[in-house]
Amino acid sequence: MNQYEKHVFDAIYGRRSVRNYVEGKEIERGKIVKLLKAGMAAPSACNIQPWEFIVVTDGDTVRRIRQSIERFGDYNAPMVMVVCSYPDFIPWEGDNGATDCSVAIENMLIAATAMDLGTVWIGGFDPGSIRQILDIPENVFPVGLFYVGYPAEQPEPRTQYLEEAVYWQKYDPEREHQPRPGNLLTFLGIGDPDGQAPEDSSPTSS
Ligand SMILES: Cc1cc2nc3c(=O)[nH]c(=O)nc-3n(C[C@H](O)[C@H](O)[C@H](O)COP(=O)(O)O)c2cc1C
Repeated sequence: MNQYEKHVFDAIYGRRSVRNYVEGKEIERGKIVKLLKAGMAAPSACNIQPWEFIVVTDGDTVRRIRQSIERFGDYNAPMVMVVCSYPDFIPWEGDNGATDCSVAIENMLIAATAMDLGTVWIGGFDPGSIRQILDIPENVFPVGLFYVGYPAEQPEPRTQYLEEAVYWQKYDPEREHQPRPGNLLTFLGIGDPDGQAPEDSSPTSS
């Protein structure tokens, strides 16, 4: 095993969505900067780095954000990180920088785990409200946000490895698809028999 393997897998498997945080425990500024450095260590197409980060620790602003995403994520964390794309320097069509921003988010979630912080990625936000609360202009796109705080719950480390999700060498169009174990929409009884969620019920639609 090389120097990274154990630590990296521990952090990857240990990163779980945390929806309950220690009240009143702020995040140290040094840790926030480390999170940002982890985000900005992510791969980026042509290294354009179309990402921008809004760190929200002001209690009133966090409260307004929580209220605006009440349905899919009113959690008691002291901090919200909003990741936006600024796609003006992307010269090709059909890319608004969301992929680059998403990999930066995942880097930050894993880095947070390594610093004993909890996070949960929220896709179910209303971009209009977030724009308004944070003064985000038209040419900048809020791609995703996540809460950060000290966890008051510790979901078990795990992978969701599933052989059914893997094809070796070639795709098998004959293979039957089932909703994945743990699919929250199945659990909630939402979605049609093909496992397709109605558009307006997806926690990731935004
Ligand atoms: C793109 C994306 C959007 C998500 N949106 C929400 C959300 O709006 N609210 C929420 O509570 N969790 C949200 N989650 C967290 C997922 O529910 C969670 O990752 C999933 O259930 C697996 O659990 P785990 O993160 O503990 O491994 C989101 C995750 C991703 C990747």
